[in-house]
Amino acid sequence: MKVLVIHGSPRKNKNTDQVINAFFKEVKDIILEHVYLYDLNISYCTGCLACGKNGICPIEDDMQTLYELFETADAIVLGSPMYFNSVTSATKVMIDRTQVYWSRRFMLEHKMEKPKLKKGVFISTAGVSHTEASFEGARKVVSIFFKAINTSYDLEIVVDNLDHESLENQMETLQEITHKGLGFFS
Ligand SMILES: Cc1cc2nc3c(=O)[nH]c(=O)nc-3n(C[C@H](O)[C@H](O)[C@H](O)COP(=O)(O)O)c2cc1C
Repeated sequence: MKVLVIHGSPRKNKNTDQVINAFFKEVKDIILEHVYLYDLNISYCTGCLACGKNGICPIEDDMQTLYELFETADAIVLGSPMYFNSVTSATKVMIDRTQVYWSRRFMLEHKMEKPKLKKGVFISTAGVSHTEASFEGARKVVSIFFKAINTSYDLEIVVDNLDHESLENQMETLQEITHKGLGFFS
């Protein structure tokens, strides 16, 4: 199984990456492909709607590599800290560029096939304590992204209140996340 792990935090090895690492800690026999969005050159979608005519995004940048990875991965794990009740801006820029998949399905006269069906996990961390409802902004954005790339929203892991209680003091939480990773890929 090939898993595309999309790191959407600008801070490498901090909260969100630590949760991602815990998730994969004991998972074996899978191929991991990590991409760090803040290391990539991905331009904004300009709404040119060229993809509505031929199903191809004309912007030549690192998103072209991600389009290929969306076709070959069996599962996607997206990690993003919560920024203003949503995902980070680099994550949102990447998501907007998946408009190409909506165009292929709904705008082209000869509709193109969906990309391969994949399993999906969303991992997020937040500074303050959140209720289910306050997480809704990020969840809605990610669920429509997953839909665009034909990925089911199978699992969501959120660790909140990290401005007040650092992850280093939450060994039990990290162990639970490791357990969830094992369960998900077994
Ligand atoms: C620009 C910005 C916006 C943020 N917005 C929120 C927010 O809306 N809700 C929240 O709980 N935390 C918010 N935070 C805190 C981060 O989500 C939190 O510290 C997160 O764990 C950081 O993850 P990282 O260590 O992977 O960067 C924000 C932080 C930044 C820098």
